[in-house]
Amino acid sequence: MTCTHSLHKDKVALIAGGGGGMGLQTALDLLKAGARVWVLDMKPEPHELKEQDRAHYFQGDATDQTQLDRLFADIEAKAGHLNYLVNTTGVLWFDRDKSFLEIDMDVWDQVYEINLKSLVLTTKGAVPLMRKAGGGAMVHISSIDALSGDAAPQDAYGSAKAALIRFSKSVAVQCAKDGIRSNTILPGGVHTSMQERWDLDPSKKEALANFVPLGRVGVAQDIANAILFLLSDKASYITGTELVIDGGIRALP
Ligand SMILES: NC(=O)c1ccc[n+]([C@@H]2O[C@H](COP(=O)([O-])OP(=O)(O)OC[C@H]3O[C@@H](n4cnc5c(N)ncnc54)[C@H](O)[C@@H]3O)[C@@H](O)[C@H]2O)c1
Repeated sequence: MTCTHSLHKDKVALIAGGGGGMGLQTALDLLKAGARVWVLDMKPEPHELKEQDRAHYFQGDATDQTQLDRLFADIEAKAGHLNYLVNTTGVLWFDRDKSFLEIDMDVWDQVYEINLKSLVLTTKGAVPLMRKAGGGAMVHISSIDALSGDAAPQDAYGSAKAALIRFSKSVAVQCAKDGIRSNTILPGGVHTSMQERWDLDPSKKEALANFVPLGRVGVAQDIANAILFLLSDKASYITGTELVIDGGIRALP
């Protein structure tokens, strides 16, 4: 039987936001499975990637078209095509992203640029290179925050993540004829650098774990496992849909 991992051998992948928790775990898993992986992130290269000979690190801004043009030109020059795009770029600014009644609209625009526009730009860049590969697969990371309102919200974040779901469906419909699939994952709380507030106050993490039906918060590996499945040919009939990965929170009454 073919294991899901061996399906990724020699595939060419781009992980946007791949210096962070979920993206980095996905990059490492794809490298382990034999893929060639380009990682884009604002952060300096994580040490885990430095000694990987099939990893290409690009320190840059996913909202900057000029930098993205250079990145896609590099992929085209070195690999000739692209099989996978994973969009994990995101920011959750608890201190500045507030209710729509209070938020500074410059902050609103920045959150939309990073959490939504960056994905549109990387997707636009990826499609021509996926056509050269004869098809491809994309996974975009939204959030369960996209599915409900909140009395103490991050309104820009949640609404940008909701827009992303709709955007992915449009990509799926428009690019199906090219053999390109596009799906979205909606995580619940996952312990990555985005949730560093849990390191400062572990009681917040414990309170969430007690609320989650499966009794714990998520880890980056939970999300990377699903990303590798959705990218693989095992998911060849899955496109334009969403996968909630939240330990059961959304199943609660
Ligand atoms: N951690 C959670 O609880 C959680 C829950 C639901 C959804 N998400 C979403 O999952 C995705 C991955 O988040 P994570 O938990 O791995 O967090 P993370 O902060 O570890 O990773 C996000 C990465 O995006 C990068 N980034 C931000 N702006 C960028 C830009 N302009 N250009 C390039 N890179 C940029 C950051 O440097 C960071 O490495 C995000 O889209 C996030 O919104 C996270």
